[in-house]
Amino acid sequence: MNQEAKEMLATEFCGMKFNTPLVLLSGCVGFGEEYTRVKGFSNRDVGAVCLKGTTLTPRLGNMPHRVYETPMGMLNAIGLQNPGVRYVVDSILPTLDFEETRFIANLSGSTVEEYVEVARIFDDSPIDAMEINISCPNVKEGGVAFGNNPEMSARVVDAVRKVTQKPLITKLSPNQTNIQENARRCIEAGTDAFAVINTLMGMAIDIESRTPILGNNQGGLSGPAIKPIALLKVHQVYQVCRDHGIPIIGQGGITTAEDAIEFIIAGASAVGVGTALFYDPHVCKSINAGILAYLQRHQLTEVSQLVGTLTLNQNKPACTC
Ligand SMILES: Cc1cc2nc3c(=O)[nH]c(=O)nc-3n(C[C@H](O)[C@H](O)[C@H](O)COP(=O)(O)O)c2cc1C
Repeated sequence: MNQEAKEMLATEFCGMKFNTPLVLLSGCVGFGEEYTRVKGFSNRDVGAVCLKGTTLTPRLGNMPHRVYETPMGMLNAIGLQNPGVRYVVDSILPTLDFEETRFIANLSGSTVEEYVEVARIFDDSPIDAMEINISCPNVKEGGVAFGNNPEMSARVVDAVRKVTQKPLITKLSPNQTNIQENARRCIEAGTDAFAVINTLMGMAIDIESRTPILGNNQGGLSGPAIKPIALLKVHQVYQVCRDHGIPIIGQGGITTAEDAIEFIIAGASAVGVGTALFYDPHVCKSINAGILAYLQRHQLTEVSQLVGTLTLNQNKPACTC
């Protein structure tokens, strides 16, 4: 990439300087080191890398099967396998090259207290920012995911906000009725940004044994199959965020530069790439090149000029069927 291209793709996000608007998504890149072993791959091609969901103590994860390919996507139920926050901070972060890109921790927990403890430990580390994965089940309240309910989501954000000044990104779930209300509550509770969306819950069945294929029975659907849903959620959350200057990392099925550009037009300041990496570890290079070509073709000098530039058709709201 030449200097002019670098300057056009460089993006500011919550006061952080991103090399490009691309963010590698949590759970799809291990702890930031996984793809650096692939020839030709570089973390320098992306603005940030989100680490795997991290809990207070180590977790072995779910019984197999943990992943299952579906038409245009995949189901996963990994079960937050991770070595625990202490190990991540003491043994993994020192091995990461913070010159290459920004690293974002993904906070996960079963209770509000666990999220707070994980955040406290990451706060005292070189990590650049924290993303709250509120899609975890709340064990104290019947196992409903925190993120499915605006009140519970805001409680997590409020508690974590009190223990860190690092940029705080709340990852919103699509598995809820009113994502805009959830976003409003999380802004009041002090989030600096949003990641939109996490996976949609789904299932696959083995018809011979008549049992679910995933060991966990259900799992999160990701990949191109969820892109239209993710795009609408980004558009909806952007309506809430715009006036507060709260940026969004749009994500869900992004595979091409055209996908990424759609998310940016809908209101995302940065865009996430997750499942697409499993098909093509070099996909970020072509997404960067495509975004750059689009900016040049439209006489734009930076990505921020494109954010939220969607013009809606002026039809009266009506039934969609
Ligand atoms: C195998 C796998 C593991 C994931 N693990 C996490 C996780 O630990 N924490 C989290 O917030 N999201 C996790 N996600 C969700 C992704 O970060 C991302 O939000 C989602 O997959 C949508 O983007 P995509 O369609 O580009 O993959 C995981 C997704 C996959 C496919």
